[in-house]
Amino acid sequence: TGKRAFIAGVADDNGYGWAIAKALAAAGAEILVGTWVPALNIFETSLRRGKFDESRKLPDGSLMEIAKVYPLDAVYDTPDDVPEDVKANKRYAGASNWTVKEVAETVKNDFGSIDILVHSLANGPEVTKSLLETSRRGYLAAISASSYSFVSLLQHFLPIMNPGGASISLTYIASERIIPGYGGGMSSAKAALESDTRVLAYEAGRKAKVRVNTISAGPLGSRAAKAIGFIEKMIEYSYVNAPLQKELLADEVGNTAAFLVSPLASAVTGSTIYVDNGLNTMGLAL
Ligand code: NAI
Repeated sequence: TGKRAFIAGVADDNGYGWAIAKALAAAGAEILVGTWVPALNIFETSLRRGKFDESRKLPDGSLMEIAKVYPLDAVYDTPDDVPEDVKANKRYAGASNWTVKEVAETVKNDFGSIDILVHSLANGPEVTKSLLETSRRGYLAAISASSYSFVSLLQHFLPIMNPGGASISLTYIASERIIPGYGGGMSSAKAALESDTRVLAYEAGRKAKVRVNTISAGPLGSRAAKAIGFIEKMIEYSYVNAPLQKELLADEVGNTAAFLVSPLASAVTGSTIYVDNGLNTMGLAL
């Protein structure tokens, strides 16, 4: 309660970012979101037209309020990093101040500080290719959008995070076990994200008393996951093989996120927390 959260990676009401926003709002936090520039228009229009009103409902019956939506492209740190063709792109030219550094500055000007930073974004242009077939460009793009984006966000937001604050990201078990089909260097990107969670927990803990954790989530049929192509199979596999044979709800990840960024988790940092109906613990399923 009384805390302010910036959640990067919300562009509809289907993904983990939305569910985390709701769980934090239900716990009394003020919600700011960062929305990928190309998705900004449709997201804001849908919000305005009430398309998300049903899924904005909180347990107490009120609707989640989003205090401000910031355009964001977490692949670019400063305006100097933006290539000409992106600058000229209609969807990008229509928005402003969407590099990571500028978003942090704008949030600072608007609100002064935040307590909670959430990274719920990933992108791998060659995700449908096996690692053996992945190009250098595709691999580095996956790392840039899915791993360095967190380093950059924390780097730029840490100076405006209040002591006792916390950050989280979302990862996937393909970082440590073989998940055929999760290609394009996305498995490598998640491995980097988890390793960085430990190093950043140390650095941000010592520097600013901020905690850093990541949630290793089970499969969810989000927009991003549908782009991988076999999410329904992964959901079915989990249902059949996990200790808990039930659907995994985005809200269950949201609730764990709310716990992790709250004082209830004040001694938890540098950890990868599984929210996957226990699937990660299985060796052989019968
Ligand atoms: P989602 O589609 O709701 O979220 C991904 C978001 O990333 C989208 O809003 C997209 O617009 C945004 N995005 C992509 N590139 C961006 C960029 N350069 N700058 C700013 N935003 C950008 O999908 P989902 O699945 O909820 O993804 C959230 C996180 O959860 C990701 O890190 C994903 O890898 C992770 N995750 C998802 C699982 C699943 O089965 N859906 C399983 C485990 C982890």
